Amino acid sequence: MRPEQIIARLFRKKTAQTFDCPPKEKLPRHIAFIMDGNGRWAKKRGLPRSAGHAAGTEALRELIRTVSDIGIESMSIYAFSTENWNRPTEEVQALMKLISRYFLSEIDELIEKNVRITILGELDAFPDEQKQALIQAMERTRLNTGLKLNIALNYGGRAEIVRAAGLLCEKCVRGEIKPGDVNAELFDECTYTHGQADVDLLIRTGGDERISNFLLWQCWYAELIFEDVFWPDYTKQKLFEDLNIYAGRDRRFGRVKEK
Ligand code: IPE
Ligand code: IPE
Ligand code: MG
Repeated sequence: MRPEQIIARLFRKKTAQTFDCPPKEKLPRHIAFIMDGNGRWAKKRGLPRSAGHAAGTEALRELIRTVSDIGIESMSIYAFSTENWNRPTEEVQALMKLISRYFLSEIDELIEKNVRITILGELDAFPDEQKQALIQAMERTRLNTGLKLNIALNYGGRAEIVRAAGLLCEKCVRGEIKPGDVNAELFDECTYTHGQADVDLLIRTGGDERISNFLLWQCWYAELIFEDVFWPDYTKQKLFEDLNIYAGRDRRFGRVKEK
């Protein structure tokens, strides 16, 4: 075989590699996504940033379906951070519109898929109509027993921790607990994700390697994967590839490795 044929074959093999989903016992109980890179995806194509956000919702739709189908318990997605309010007003408005529209178009399928929606974040900051739609989405899916889908909206990890501290103070003032009772379990009860597993795997697309104030409490021992692809290009195949990487990780939780 000629060298160029060998190279061609190797290259074909590499690009054609496909990944299967790992077995259930190797999957994370809780997977979280920092869906980053929508703006750059659009810029690369000469489109407005809002087009990137719209393309991002398409990727999200496929991913929620897949994560729900393979039987992961919890999925958290970062849709809008407490710091994202500092973006230009038009972008914030376009994002809000997109989020509302997304909910309206998806809610029936999510209900059908037995998905339970929890919004992580302070809803009072949203216009009344949108706030009601979000509360309704939580209400309508409250009794569902499938995937727990956490949507972080106006969410910040610090804000969540400060909120939890405030709730604990209130319990103390009401005499329900004493300051000395406060421990990690009681603290966890005051987080938005109470009752769910801690994040096992956090995936960030877009090439940056930081947490950007996402699930600071829940990610304490999370495995981290940083993907170069922009969020709209993140596919089911990429997810399976990342799940295989996760399945191969050695998680020690501070212990020494068992033989
Ligand atoms: C992430 O994409 C989506 C949100 C923050 C809502 P960005 O809008 O941050 O896209 P980049 O990082 O600027 O490319
Ligand atoms: C994180 O992305 C927030 C969301 C994906 C919603 P950002 O684009 O806001 O984060 P930084 O500014 O790059 O850290
Ligand atoms: Mg970004």
